Amino acid sequence: MLTARIAVLVSGGGTNLQALLDARDRGELPHGSLALVIADKPGIRAIGRAREGDVASAVIPRRELGFEEKVLAALRNYQIDMVVLAGFLGILSKDFIEAFRGPIINIHPSLIPSFCGKGFYGLKVHQAALDYGVKVTGATVHYVNEVPDGGKIILQRAVEILPGDTAEVLQRRVMEQAEWKLLPAAAEIVAAEVVRAARE
Ligand code: GRF
Repeated sequence: MLTARIAVLVSGGGTNLQALLDARDRGELPHGSLALVIADKPGIRAIGRAREGDVASAVIPRRELGFEEKVLAALRNYQIDMVVLAGFLGILSKDFIEAFRGPIINIHPSLIPSFCGKGFYGLKVHQAALDYGVKVTGATVHYVNEVPDGGKIILQRAVEILPGDTAEVLQRRVMEQAEWKLLPAAAEIVAAEVVRAARE
């Protein structure tokens, strides 16, 4: 195996997917190949980013029956070795994680264990940090297990909260200074591990 085949699961704007595509194009993802993007709803910007980045994409509506089975079938069809959750809003079941067996990683927009777990996603995470009054937040990439935001931490990066920050302003800063740097770096770390394990 020369590279680990990566599937990216998305639910929204796809800016984290874009960070992966840009890192690939800069040669910063040598051990991974972005093979498939799975959107859990139609009409999201992330699908357009996949097409512009020449990556195959599929829409598998999360609300439909058999969502996880359909995703697993797509991962098998595309011979995927690892999964990256990039702004994906679903919670994958223990059965799914065990059935896929390869590594699954996720980007969360806070310094886990703060402001994470059930109900903490998108702007809610940043509003909670502002409401608490913390002076530093950031982003975390972690392995996915059956506990929401519960798996082993891979990378973190801190981001300063400034006076007058709104949740929207803070979200943007965390994306620019942390998420979009960490996710490609973590994907390369895990992809290299997958390739190394395949050679043993
Ligand atoms: C953002 O809130 C981001 O912080 C989190 O998921 C949301 C959308 O990300 N990781 P994306 O633009 O769809 O990648």
